[in-house]
This record gives sequence, structure tokens and C-alpha cells, in this order.
Amino acid sequence: MVKSFPPISPKVPRLLHGADYNPDQWLRYPDILKEDIRLMKLSRCNVMSVGIFSWVSLEPEEGRFSFDWLDQVLDAFKDNGIYAFLATPSGARPAWLSKKYPEVLRTERNRVRNLYGKRHNHCYTSPVYRRKTAIINGKLAERYANHPAVIGWHISNEYGGECHCDLCQVKFREWLLAKYKTLDQLNHAWWTAFWSHTYTDWDEIESPAPHGEDALHGLNLDWKRFVTDQTVDFCRHEIAHVRSFNPELPITTNFMGTYAGLNYWKFVDLLDVISWDSYPTWHNNWQEDAKLGADIGFVHDINRSLKGGRPFMLMESTPSMTNWHDVSKLKRPGMHELSSLQAVAHGSDTVQYFQWRKSRGSSEKLHGAVVDHEGSEHTRVFQDVKKLGEKLAKLEEIAGTTVEPEAAIIFDWENRWALEDAQGPRNIGLHYERTVKSFYEPFWQEGVPVDIIHMEADLSRYKLVVAPMLYMLKEGAAERIEQFVQNGGTFVTTYWSGIADENDLAFLGGFPGGLRKTLGIWSEEIDALHDGQKNKIVMDNDNRLGLGGCYEAAELCDLIHLEGAEALAFYEEDFYAGRPALTVNLFGAGKAYYIASRNEAAFQEAFLSKLIEETGIAKVLDTELPKGVTAQLRTDGSHDYIFLLNFTAENQSIALPEGTYTDVLKGTSKKGTVKLASYGTCILRRSRQTE
Ligand code: GLA
Ligand code: ZN
Repeated sequence: MVKSFPPISPKVPRLLHGADYNPDQWLRYPDILKEDIRLMKLSRCNVMSVGIFSWVSLEPEEGRFSFDWLDQVLDAFKDNGIYAFLATPSGARPAWLSKKYPEVLRTERNRVRNLYGKRHNHCYTSPVYRRKTAIINGKLAERYANHPAVIGWHISNEYGGECHCDLCQVKFREWLLAKYKTLDQLNHAWWTAFWSHTYTDWDEIESPAPHGEDALHGLNLDWKRFVTDQTVDFCRHEIAHVRSFNPELPITTNFMGTYAGLNYWKFVDLLDVISWDSYPTWHNNWQEDAKLGADIGFVHDINRSLKGGRPFMLMESTPSMTNWHDVSKLKRPGMHELSSLQAVAHGSDTVQYFQWRKSRGSSEKLHGAVVDHEGSEHTRVFQDVKKLGEKLAKLEEIAGTTVEPEAAIIFDWENRWALEDAQGPRNIGLHYERTVKSFYEPFWQEGVPVDIIHMEADLSRYKLVVAPMLYMLKEGAAERIEQFVQNGGTFVTTYWSGIADENDLAFLGGFPGGLRKTLGIWSEEIDALHDGQKNKIVMDNDNRLGLGGCYEAAELCDLIHLEGAEALAFYEEDFYAGRPALTVNLFGAGKAYYIASRNEAAFQEAFLSKLIEETGIAKVLDTELPKGVTAQLRTDGSHDYIFLLNFTAENQSIALPEGTYTDVLKGTSKKGTVKLASYGTCILRRSRQTE
């Protein structure tokens, strides 16, 4: 039974709309601060993220605190019905702090300590940095955790990067000791006899060196795990110094999509609500907007999946352009609303921007903002924001609703780390993320909701699980997949799966390791193709899926033997012509498919479309969607909210199946055909039949 979730804050039980607000940059301009409040109300913004980079304004010299300005800002918010996610300021720090305590500065891979400057430039291990963070966080919490305008904590900003200082080396060794207990176990797990790397003392172990990735893949992998754990530990430390002042305040930290440096799943238990910062490069080539729409949908789905369907926050997005893409294009008419409502469609309860007002100076003075240097509400961007604010206010009933997909895709950070580190068949690019997204796209195009999960997630709630390039199988993963299929699930995996265990040690006894039995195949060799080289796969006549035709294969072609599975397609060319290229194994009550080659998009579309049909997975709308238009769903169990989103520059129409629909924004009933303008949207409410 679908449940809905409580609002992010009980004080604002609706969708939140707002921006990163940096009043500390404008303290000499009191008129501007006053004008900000007027403009916030005018734009229907109800939440601001405040204080993200304010450390020096809060603690201008060591131990001297200055809160007057923030008192005034938050009091003005209170008087005007605006709320705040209050930030801890650890993302950037005062010059005095770095000067007095150089150990807080980050040390790069070459073991050279950074100079002061930029942001996100600190050591997560440094006891001094932790102490100073604890003090400022505690002071903020003591003063503001119960302020009527404050509704949550924005911990730090976009955690990321790694530090190689001596303090971090010591911590890394402690982490390894706790994991392996003995050097002998570590030496085996890391296969250190290779190139004489065997360690005879814990102190010999160092973080990976700057000369490319190190020879020891186990070291590289554990270092990445350690960096995540150390960052999580720092986040936990920050939270510990704010939480107790008001345990009711929800806590988040803003993620960066599929950022490779941190396994975001490890943060989940610390946070009350997930948030992320989205900066797609719309219109770089407008033919590609639909593809990008699917890619961003994928990331939104990760963020919704992280906390099991709980609505997340779109913490940052630009209301117009960035200033850091290669080419920073403006959003074309319609795109602001489309990209914002897209987040809501996939489970966000907020639409927030970076930034409220353009800085006058420094590196983000030309980054888009709700309020331009010009300063008035008479700009295209401000008007777009205002219009959206008015619409979000009408979508109150959607806050807290979710979706329970019947399909899931595995996108696993640890798998990705190991897969990308391995030197193997195709060092010019294995493209893990792009491959996973290529399997997501057909679901998006058909309007089928999907969860994005990791390999240790519970699979039992899904009918269909797709795990492209599952190179690494952590302990128990193969058994869980076997059980899932045994119990009637449909599992799909591809070439380059089941190669190595969680230490990145290759499986002995044949690939795909523990999945060999479930899939009923043995993968003996894999051929790699240069860019531009092609093979072809041809569907077998009368194959069980009823899929016809032939498809181009490129980049990777796996040479497999059938061990119980049946072949559905065969290679057409090269010395392995005639060998199986797509198989299915009927196993227990379920089915396990193996795709041996990287195929053109048309294959994924045709294949997954058949599987959606075969497994009986419900589409959001039982109708044909035009290419580049998706349908996404949120529901509270009795009402479905259907988001129709047009990522093409053309007008589109969609034939509605039988049912009773209401256009939520217009409040009118809807039948027949929905017309979507270029980059247009429509949100429909449909009542569920009570069975
Ligand atoms: C990131 C940061 C923000 C800002 C934006 C600019 O997401 O969190 O502080 O720098 O980028 O796009
Ligand atoms: Zn360090």
C-alpha cells in the first residue's frame, strides 16, 4: 500500500520554493536587504538557504561572534512568512583560521598542502577543524535552532574531495586495521605479492600516490571507501553539534548528483531528508534535451530512492544560466517551469535555486540568479520564477506523495569504482554511468517509474531488476539475485558482470561468478571493439520474447556458452558469428536475461518494452507517448498525480486512456487529448478505483 510522507517541515506543509541567500555579502547595502524581502514575497518564495558561506561574518575573529545581522535577517523572515534552512558554514572558512592553524588546509595527492583560497579546501580529519566547526555549529544552533523562521539544517555544502595529509594517513591505517585485523589478510585482499607490494608493517601503507591510479586495486578501492567514511564521519560530527538544540529540525546536506567521489548511500542514515544540486546543460544541442531530460530524471530517482521513496529537495538549480559550463546557455521559454516541475514529478517537495541575488563581485557575480544586478522584478527570469511560485502554491496536495516503482535499476558506487579502475578490455572507455542511463531511458520514455538502487538493496518489492555491467559482486549479492529470480522476479544483466569480488579479486571458476547458475551461462572471453567498429546481433526466429530484427553491437562483445539458458539472439559477424548474444534462463519461478553485447539504443527500447509487457508492470498512462515526452507519477494511494513533461521544442499531444482526470493547476476536468506546448507540462489528478 502506498504511503505518503509528512511534509519536510510541519510549519510549511506544502511545496517549498526558494534559493541560496547570501545577505552577508550585502550588509553595507541595507536598502537591498529590505528590497530582498519585498521581492521574495513577490516571487512567491517561501524558503531561503542562509549562511552557507558566512563563517567570517559570524566569527570575524577567533572566539568573537557576531550574530546581529543574522538576527535581523531571520526576524525579517519571520515577520514576512519566509522560512530558512540554516547552513553550517564549514564549506569555506575565514582566512584567520587557515593562517593560525595550517593543518586545516587540504593536502593534495602529491602530498603538498594547499594554500588558502577557494572553498571546500579542508581536511575532514583535522582535530582543529573539527573543534572549530563544533564551536560555530553549536553557537548557531544555540541561538537559532528554535527561531520561528528556521525549519531545517543545511549541513555544510557539497561535501567532496579528499585529503592526503599525515593525519589522514594515520586515520586510513586505523580504518584498515579495523577492517582487516591482520596484515596478512590485507595482503591477500589487495593481492600485494603483485610487483612486490607486500606490506610488512602497517606504517608502510599510504594513500594512493599521485602517479595515476596505484597498482593495487584493493588499495584504491579501500581508499575511496575510507574517503566516504571519513566524510560521513565529519558530517556526523557537524550534526552532533546542532541536533540536540532542537531534535525536530530536519537535517540535510546537498549532494551533487552522481558525483563519483562519495558513495551517497552511506549518508542516508544520518540525514532526515535528501537534497541535491542540479545543473543540466539544457539546449547545448536541442535534439538532446530529451536525452538530458531522461538523464536528469535518473538522478532525481536516485535521490528519491536513497530514503526509500521519501520526497527529497531540489536544493539548487539555476533560474537562468550557470557561469561554469563550457557554454552557459539561457533557458528557453518553458524550460524553467519544465525542469523545475520535473524535479517535483520525480519526488522533490521543493524547487530551490542558486542563487537569490547575483553577487556584485568575485567568482559567481555572473551566475544566474532570481534577482539580477539590474535589481527589479521586471526581468524575464524573475517573472518565470514568480509564475512558477504561483503554480507551486497550487500544488500543495502533492507534498509528501511518492511512488512505489515495480522496476529497479542497480547503479552502484563501489561497482563503479572497481570497474573504472580495472585496466582491461577497453581503456578508452567502459562508460558505466552512460550504460546504466541507456537502460533507464526506455523506462522514462514509456512512462514507467523506476527506483535506482545499490547492489545490497532489498529486491523483493520489484518485479524487474536491471543491473547493467555488474562487474563487482559483493558478498551475498549473487545469492540475493538468485533468490529474487527463484521467487519469480525478472533479472537482467549484461556483459562485464560477475568479474570480481568486493576486494576487486577476480572470481576463480568462470565468469559471471556467483551469477553463473542463475543466468545459465559461462562467459569465457570478451572482445573489445574500437570506436566506430561494429558487429550485429540478430534475433532468433520465434524467440520466446517475440522480438524481431537485428541490432548494431559495439564496444564490448562477450563470448558466452549456454549452460541451461536459451539463446534469443546471435552474433552476425566476426569469428564468433553464430554464438549467443542474448539469453534467457528460466530459473525457479523467474527469468534471468543476459545481454552479451553493448547494443544500440533501439535494442534497449525494444527489449525493455517487451519485458515491461511480460512482467505486467504498470505504466503511468496506458498510452503511446511521443518521443521526448515522459509521464511520471506521484500518489498518496487514493489519488495519482500524473506529470506529463515535454522535453522537445515541438508541440505534442497525448491521447488519454479512459478515466477521470482533473488538470490540477487549472482545476478543470480533462478528457481526450492533452496538448503540450514546446517544453510544456501538464499535471493531472486521477482517482484510483477502490478495489
Ligand atoms: C554549487 C554550489 C553553489 C554554487 C553553485 C553554482 O552547486 O553548491 O554554492 O557555487 O554550484 O552553480
Ligand atoms: Zn587530512
